[in-house]
Amino acid sequence: MFRKYRNFLRGISVNRIGQVGVILTTTAFAGFLFFEFLRLIGVLDNAYIGLITYMLFPAMFIVGLALMPLAWYRYRKKQGKSTKELLNERFDPGDVREGFFGSRVFLVILVLTMVNVLFITGAGFRTLKFMDEPKFCGTACHSVMGPEWTAYQQSPHSRVKCVECHVGQGVDAVVSAKLNGLRQMALAMLSDYERPIPTPVHQLRPSRETCEQCHWPDKFYGSRMVTRTHYGMDRNSTPRYTTLQLKIDTGHDAGKGGIHWHVASDNQVQYASVGDKREDIIWVDWRQPDGSYRRFENIRLKNEASEADHSRIRTMDCVDCHNRVTHVYEDAEAAVDDRIMRGLVDRFLPFVKREMLAAISANYPSDEAGLEGIRKHLMGFYRALDAVQGARMADRIDQAVVVAQDIYRRNIHHHMRIDWNTYSNHLGHQQDGGCFRCHNPNMRDKQGKAIRHDCTLCHSILAYDEENRFQYLFEPDKKNPNYKMHLFLRNEFLNSEQGALKTRP
Ligand code: HEC
Ligand code: HEC
Ligand code: HEC
Ligand code: HEC
Ligand code: HEC
Repeated sequence: MFRKYRNFLRGISVNRIGQVGVILTTTAFAGFLFFEFLRLIGVLDNAYIGLITYMLFPAMFIVGLALMPLAWYRYRKKQGKSTKELLNERFDPGDVREGFFGSRVFLVILVLTMVNVLFITGAGFRTLKFMDEPKFCGTACHSVMGPEWTAYQQSPHSRVKCVECHVGQGVDAVVSAKLNGLRQMALAMLSDYERPIPTPVHQLRPSRETCEQCHWPDKFYGSRMVTRTHYGMDRNSTPRYTTLQLKIDTGHDAGKGGIHWHVASDNQVQYASVGDKREDIIWVDWRQPDGSYRRFENIRLKNEASEADHSRIRTMDCVDCHNRVTHVYEDAEAAVDDRIMRGLVDRFLPFVKREMLAAISANYPSDEAGLEGIRKHLMGFYRALDAVQGARMADRIDQAVVVAQDIYRRNIHHHMRIDWNTYSNHLGHQQDGGCFRCHNPNMRDKQGKAIRHDCTLCHSILAYDEENRFQYLFEPDKKNPNYKMHLFLRNEFLNSEQGALKTRP
């Protein structure tokens, strides 16, 4: 049997081109099966080997197959004989003789062709599936996607595939994404890409096709309580608390809804922004179900209004607020607060908050210099403080170094020029961005009424940098200079739609 196959291969390797074709197809076939087997039993899961298995091998296989008829064609031309004569020369006469279903050579070619078609289809499906794996997207172009991959692995969506947000549903989405991906891969190989990768990502599919496969607006109701702990710069890194009751309801009637009102199914909010960057908003339209709409114009951008590019009007969706939903780069201070709160660093290490923050936010020329600089900074500080003595103390300092380096590694990527705050987060209102892009006194309608921006529109405030998490729920103290504000915030919470006490029968 094996001898027969060898004879057959020898028969079709009529010249150099034919030989190359046979070698290419055979190695590609065997290699594919071998690596696929290793992957199935879980030995391999490296994206580079994946690139070889799913892109190089199938390509080699197809090229090899194409070479064979080409070789035969040139061979026949050179020899100047008929196909029949040549077949008789290359193969055993017995194999060429016409049988009931055609000659044996013909049958072998037929069977092999069927195997090839099956193989190419199977490999093709595997290749497409492989390209959908986050591991592929995140690591095949390692240095380019490194930052997003790192952030993604720590996010609430670390089990959601990249393509579920970046590609979406439908054949046209998949095809255009694959073509776009090929172009990007070529550019990545030529190092021809922007660092950092610019946002907003304009190719992102509308979130109806992505996010809303898993979350949908009618599902948001009520409110969500969040407490933010901020540690002080003092010796004990004393904690202070900010507690917000976020009104995340969708609602439907204006004035009764909450934060997800913008994406309610019968609502539409559209806007134009300077240069399509979605940072400086020129005007906002709020369209109601009956077709009427209200326009708010930014009185500080009156001049730009006429230049607003009407082909780039954007309908607000999830990503206008949740732009950092997966690639969560932390704010330096918030990151340190978070690690202390989770008990990863010992809060009673003197000045640990202040020193960790100083160590990670200094300017370093490279990733390695950063990690080393952080170690030097903390070690130097505690040595000067004479705190390193004693095995227990030394352990706790080492721990702080490791945690600080982890924060740095996760958020800073010199080769992609990603530093603190390279990517802004639109979810809150840091530095007048986020919600305050629209919710500010400059956004006025024809009557001069601004988009609402009172502090309790989006959240009740139960503590604002206080020693107690629920400071404003206590009976306010008349002697306190903030008495009026406390009273107001307390009543606002107790009387709000979402206020826990009000919903009690
Ligand atoms: C839950 C949805 C979701 C998943 C899963 C997801 N992304 Fe993203 N991605 C986004 C959003 C939203 C943006 C920001 C778009 C914007 O700002 O315009 C983004 C932006 C990016 C950017 C642009 C740079 C940046 O940080 O803004 C890259 C590159 C990227 N994603 C790669 C990936 C890779 C690789 C994976 C898988 C490992 C992945 N994404 C998984 C939603 C997702
Ligand atoms: C394939 C399903 C899927 C898709 C697509 C998806 N998500 Fe999620 N999302 C999840 C899961 C699962 C969680 C985690 C829930 C948990 O941890 O309780 C989550 C959590 C979240 C959270 C809460 C995060 C937190 O800190 O608690 C937000 C906000 C969110 N998703 C927004 C989005 C947005 C915006 C998109 C589109 C860009 C999106 N999701 C796409 C499945 C998905
Ligand atoms: C692109 C502009 C834009 C951005 C960005 C924006 N909003 Fe709005 N928002 C509006 C408009 C327009 C209205 C309706 C006018 C009004 O209520 O005064 C509105 C109304 C609201 C309402 C009241 C809903 C109701 O039932 O009337 C809440 C709550 C709200 N927004 C929260 C937020 C939060 C939180 C953010 C940031 C995470 C945000 N918005 C970002 C445009 C925006
Ligand atoms: C106007 C800004 C805005 C828009 C638009 C928006 N969200 Fe949100 N969303 C928020 C804010 C603010 C929160 C509360 C954040 C927090 O909990 O820290 C939130 C919370 C969430 C949560 C967590 C809910 C929970 O119960 O804790 C999910 C999931 C979510 N959003 C998904 C989405 C999806 C999907 C869309 C698009 C259909 C969307 N959001 C559109 C601002 C927005
Ligand atoms: C348009 C909606 C909106 C308005 C108006 C608004 N906020 Fe906020 N605020 C938010 C959202 C959304 C967050 C982010 C919640 C989160 O981080 O999950 C936030 C966060 C905060 C935080 C916590 C920041 C932190 O992490 O420590 C404070 C404090 C705060 N707001 C105070 C205010 C005050 C004071 C005002 C009035 C000047 C105000 N907010 C007006 C939506 C709003």
